Amino acid sequence: MKVNNRHYRAIWMEGSTVCMIEQNKLPFEFEIHYCKTTDETCHAIKTMITRGAGSIGAAGGYAMLQTIYSCSENNLIPELEKAKAKTDATRPTAVNLSYATKRVLDAAKISKEFAISEAFAVADECVEHSRLIGEYGNTLIEDGFGIETHCNAGWLALVDYGSALAPVYTAHDCGKKIFVYVDETRPRSQGARLTAWELNQHGVPHAIIPDNAGAHYMAAGHINIVITGADRIAANGDTANKIGTLEKAIAAKYYGIPFYIAAPTSTIDINTASGKSIPIEERSADEVLYYSGKLKNGKIEEMRIASPGSGALNPAFDVTPASLISGIITEKGIIKADKESIKKLFDNDI
Ligand code: MRU
Repeated sequence: MKVNNRHYRAIWMEGSTVCMIEQNKLPFEFEIHYCKTTDETCHAIKTMITRGAGSIGAAGGYAMLQTIYSCSENNLIPELEKAKAKTDATRPTAVNLSYATKRVLDAAKISKEFAISEAFAVADECVEHSRLIGEYGNTLIEDGFGIETHCNAGWLALVDYGSALAPVYTAHDCGKKIFVYVDETRPRSQGARLTAWELNQHGVPHAIIPDNAGAHYMAAGHINIVITGADRIAANGDTANKIGTLEKAIAAKYYGIPFYIAAPTSTIDINTASGKSIPIEERSADEVLYYSGKLKNGKIEEMRIASPGSGALNPAFDVTPASLISGIITEKGIIKADKESIKKLFDNDI
């Protein structure tokens, strides 16, 4: 993705430093955040300086790489096991994180060089898979389509291109006239802050809509397709994604609108039988009770927006049952969200 005419990935390595776009400061400030150690990279994942399933997978691989660079060869495996446990604990729902750390650890058991190349491969594959998701997803989008998306499953979330937004970019680049309805995605507003910023950078026509406006636009016939990303897809197709996704899927089903999940196969967890076993991250109540934004005088401030004295609940994800999902757009093609299709996808591969 280009920002001010320069191509950036959302996260990359320079020597032993992990560099990432500071997503908490967007859209008001564009800043690069630097992590010199595994601990600093873990902190950046936890505090969502980098976020989105693919980008945190890349961050996980790079965190392991930092451990490889900093420990002696004799201690490599025990140190990597510790680093994996620490990294995986930062964010429990997105499976890309443990997918990446496992790949690096397993490779280290063969050789240090293989482990290093695997850490880079995780990020590079994420980019290529996102590009292919764009190609496949584009076949679902017709000229004139209204597309609703939730959260940010774009370039920032997947190292480059994106999952849900990759088909949007491809369709736009092919000259299709599309309009994107961007759910604001409370409480952290990844839609209003990040997706809207990305679409602006790419020149894609869009509007931010309140989270509770999706059904209204579906009922009025403005939405032709809903595409969201995923943080973990269970073996039966049940899908965990940003809180609020489930409501969109229910509304889309009611109005007969196709609801697609876009995700690389690294987001499919064949070891999790169904959505019931996906761990759901609970985040701080403060994310609901406080809001930060730019004041008219240019200052960025955080303020309480809820009744003083009230607490809040803040589940970061929900699970959409496979029965509500029209299909999963992967780098290998578009498949049905069911056990047989997912098994076939992996059987052909492994
Ligand atoms: O909590 P976040 O912002 O890291 O949430 C993850 C997401 O960005 C979304 O759920 C997204 O739709 C899937 S990740 C590509």
